[in-house]
Amino acid sequence: MSTPVPGTVAAGGPVAGDAAPLVAEGVTLAYDGADVVHDLTLAVPRASFTVVIGPNGCGKSTLLRALARTLRPRSGRVLLEGRPIDGLRPKEVARRLALLPQSPVTPEAITVADLVARGRYPHQRLLRPWSASDAVAVAEAMAATEVADLAARPVADLSGGQRQRVWLAMALAQGTDLLLLDEPTTYLDIAHGVEVMDLLARLHDEGRTLVAVLHDLNQAARYATHLVAMRDGRVVAQGAPEDVVTETLVHEVFGLACRVVPDPETGTPLVVPRRRARG
Ligand SMILES: Nc1ncnc2c1ncn2[C@@H]1O[C@H](COP(=O)(O)OP(=O)(O)OP(=O)(O)O)[C@@H](O)[C@H]1O
Ligand SMILES: [Mg+2]
Repeated sequence: MSTPVPGTVAAGGPVAGDAAPLVAEGVTLAYDGADVVHDLTLAVPRASFTVVIGPNGCGKSTLLRALARTLRPRSGRVLLEGRPIDGLRPKEVARRLALLPQSPVTPEAITVADLVARGRYPHQRLLRPWSASDAVAVAEAMAATEVADLAARPVADLSGGQRQRVWLAMALAQGTDLLLLDEPTTYLDIAHGVEVMDLLARLHDEGRTLVAVLHDLNQAARYATHLVAMRDGRVVAQGAPEDVVTETLVHEVFGLACRVVPDPETGTPLVVPRRRARG
């Protein structure tokens, strides 16, 4: 179940191989002195669609923040392409890695087009503030997420699902090989949710490396090439979805009694919660 992936290392040890573009090496993550992620080691396989699952509060967003350098580990380190991420310049990190946070804070009075354009900031230089390639990247990102007709609207006036697609557009416009997405489909209706997942699958097919936190285990099992299950700030299992999503694991991680059957559409594990005993 816990098959090692290329680049996985024992906490604190050297990195074995260079296959993983993003590695957390024995990271302990804390807020105000309280540890929430404990000595965690994880290698994100190159060109994988890695999905992180786990119960509320187990540290998924905290881990993603550390991988994106928005949270500095209390101990351990994160390596981006083999180099400690802490030592890289912010623009260098942002040209390689984009993060869609779980609850991004919308700047006041900004329009959709202006917010998505902010994704191009890491590519701009003093003498070349805005170029045709920036405009193309923004237009493509807005088309892919179907927000082009919202371009002139203030982001603050949008629905939760529309806003989520706009933030995703901004992350896509950044044009990075690595995309970290914290619950990219929470606010979306079922059709838009599937569209966004298919869009991510397409980006993965094109060779990008994705790391997404998802709560929908069935969606996770369908799309992940590498599934990581967390509980209480630790990785409890990782590997192929069919190896990770088992009745035992779902019970161990979520405390949920369920059956796992093949998804009739894809054959991947489908979690069916057991009926509560009555009477
Ligand atoms: N900014 C913060 N300050 C203090 N504690 C925090 C902060 N952010 C998260 N925590 C705490 O850290 C723990 C892990 O939170 P985290 O957001 O990583 O969980 P999660 O697995 O993403 O949960 P969810 O599925 O609800 O999004 C929780 O106990 C949470 O209360
Ligand atoms: Mg979270």
